[in-house]
Amino acid sequence: MTGNASLGLGSYPWTRLRRNRKQDWSRRMVRETTLTPDDLIWPVFVIEGDNARQPVASMPGVDRLSINLLVEEVGRAADLGIPAVALFPYTDPDLKTPDAQEAYNPENLVCRAVRALKAAHPHMGVICDVALDPYNSNGHDGLVQDGIILNDETNEALCLQAVAQAEAGCDINAPSDMMDGRIGEIRQALDTAGHQQVQILSYAAKYASAFYGPFRDAVGSGGALKGDKKTYQMDPANTDEALREVALDIAEGADMLMVKPGLPYLDIIRRIKETFGMPTFAYNVSGEYAMLKAAAANGWLDHDAALMETLISFKRAGADGIFTYAAREAARLLRG
Ligand code: PBG
Repeated sequence: MTGNASLGLGSYPWTRLRRNRKQDWSRRMVRETTLTPDDLIWPVFVIEGDNARQPVASMPGVDRLSINLLVEEVGRAADLGIPAVALFPYTDPDLKTPDAQEAYNPENLVCRAVRALKAAHPHMGVICDVALDPYNSNGHDGLVQDGIILNDETNEALCLQAVAQAEAGCDINAPSDMMDGRIGEIRQALDTAGHQQVQILSYAAKYASAFYGPFRDAVGSGGALKGDKKTYQMDPANTDEALREVALDIAEGADMLMVKPGLPYLDIIRRIKETFGMPTFAYNVSGEYAMLKAAAANGWLDHDAALMETLISFKRAGADGIFTYAAREAARLLRG
């Protein structure tokens, strides 16, 4: 027995963990993780029109914005210190087809939004989702034949979509479709088209989740969706499989990784970050946002406190940043 142990040192009453917590300055000094506006990526929904703003009923505080309002709001987000935005289009149902070809129309809503944003705010990062669901008449992320989601044919369409977004000027392509092999194919297509500098943020571990409901309202894909996404998105019961997904995507050239949803998958973020040490992001998805807003609207939770606790939990789990619809609110709170 060491002398200290025989004296009982290292345990109560000599050791009192509350000493470090007794004042705000001391709590700040010993804080292990921090949250700054640099950690917040703001996902936004884009619609056609001029000065158009449509609230999303299931996401209080979130509006679909026409490009001119998007440019204004993104300027404000940049002023708050938010480094990047992620664009999601609400597509006119008339433009949705079984081959989802609007996805790679260089004049589609997303490509026009990217051009307008990069012209107005060249220092703001612009992230584009690569997946066919906003453009697919059956609401799936991939092409569908006889009820089967086609993998390799979908990859070809995703490559065209990624290149169209890159040509428009996006900084990061973020494939969220969960097809096998798409990261490598997209990397090759981008490089061939001269876009070696466009980053790929792979939604590597994306689960078939009930928490995407409000998002599907926001982009108008929910009503169209036939069946579920369980043959491509992951089973919520799996964690080893997430590591295999990530390993493949890194080998194929992913620059960054996403885990999605966020809160129910903090363990996945932790394992991925510890195993690979890659830039790893969490998506605090629409259903998580809606839950907090609903509870706060009923007076059941203190919104701001619960939001900040949620966001720090992602950092504590190992995330480098968080996609959150509350990015602006959080940035404002951080800036006091
Ligand atoms: C689809 C996509 C989804 C989200 C982002 N990209 C939904 C889905 O997979 O059905 C969900 C985001 C959210 O719920 O906030 N490619």
